[in-house]
Amino acid sequence: MTCQLVTGGAGFIGSCYVLQARRRGVRVVNLDKLTYAGNMDNLAQLRNDSGHIFVHGDIGNAELVGYLLEHYHPDAVVNFAAESHVDRSIVEPEAFVRTNVLGTAALLRVVKDWWRCLPVDHASVFRFLHISTDEVYGALQPNDPPFTESTPYSPNSPYSASKAAADHLVHAFHETYGLPTLLTNCSNNYGPRQFPEKLIPLMILNALARKPLPIYGKGANIRDWLHVEDHCTAIARVLEAGQPGCKYNIGGRAERTNLEVVRTVCSILDEMVPSPQGEYAGLITFVTDRPGHDFRYAIDCSCIAAALGWKPQYDFDSGLRETVRWYLDNPDWVEHVRSGAYRQWLALNYAGRGM
Ligand code: NAD
Ligand code: TYD
Repeated sequence: MTCQLVTGGAGFIGSCYVLQARRRGVRVVNLDKLTYAGNMDNLAQLRNDSGHIFVHGDIGNAELVGYLLEHYHPDAVVNFAAESHVDRSIVEPEAFVRTNVLGTAALLRVVKDWWRCLPVDHASVFRFLHISTDEVYGALQPNDPPFTESTPYSPNSPYSASKAAADHLVHAFHETYGLPTLLTNCSNNYGPRQFPEKLIPLMILNALARKPLPIYGKGANIRDWLHVEDHCTAIARVLEAGQPGCKYNIGGRAERTNLEVVRTVCSILDEMVPSPQGEYAGLITFVTDRPGHDFRYAIDCSCIAAALGWKPQYDFDSGLRETVRWYLDNPDWVEHVRSGAYRQWLALNYAGRGM
């Protein structure tokens, strides 16, 4: 049986990846610091699964990572661990440098030192896959062509700057030490188990609570939406057949303005849980914009399609409908994430935006 060291596997995308990997029979060692975004409820299905080994810890802890590598001999390290929310990076940029830059650097160094001592048959199949974002490429205007793998980096937020720095380190470890790295840059993910600080789950939960639906600026900003299950199948495919040293863009082929996304969420809710207080779209509230708000992200994912035969399977409208259904059907999950810390974040981020 193959074994992978997955970091950040209690978060939104990492947990989806871990669940898929277990279905494929991969043994998973899951290293997660359990920040506010890490949630063991995401892994509830694996509670009695001896093929999932959960380790509470930091990717920056070289001693711990070294021990896990020596003990479990993984065939791959898949690095999801990160601070991932742009608005939080505006409030506390240093936390993003600590995990996304310094944490990734520490992880790369320990993995490289261990990999160099492996027997040739193991060293040659080993892969280090780093999960990154399309935000490293910067902002597009409406008629610009989508990002390709050769678009120059131009990050604008502390989050995307920290992710860009990590991507450069991954590339440098391949060029300098020959570490067999793979890099993926994907668009905005959506789906079950996303922490409700991000646009789609925030809107679903605010709407159900009849709270304002805060749209930054005019809601004209555009994102490409990728279903988390599609993202994780792409990652598995890159691990299986990707060329070491290469990067792959992963997109959902679903560009939408934020206003379109929120209106669609509202109409799905109108149908699934009609409110006697009126249509949910009546809660839409335009608020002060995010500073440095990137206008548009769009991904050209023809390279992964041509090289590895991967294409997104989810259609955005049905994927969104399924996602709304998941939040309605999982009130216990929702209740647990609405901790005091979550309420404090909402108060901090939305106070002063004119709501
Ligand atoms: P998330 O915030 O839901 O989860 C991050 C996970 O990493 C959490 O479980 C957290 O506890 C863990 N973590 C944080 N710091 C850690 C540390 N120092 N050591 C170990 N674990 C730590 O994030 P997500 O949305 O699942 O994103 C996963 C990855 O995908 C990130 O690298 C992110 O930059 C990237 N990404 C996300 C999106 C998106 O739309 N969510 C889009 C593009 C790329
Ligand atoms: P988000 O989910 O934070 O992802 P990212 O900033 O990484 O793209 O935001 C998606 C888009 O939605 C982005 O353009 C900002 C916007 N947005 C709002 O309009 N209101 C909100 O309350 C949030 C959280 C985001």
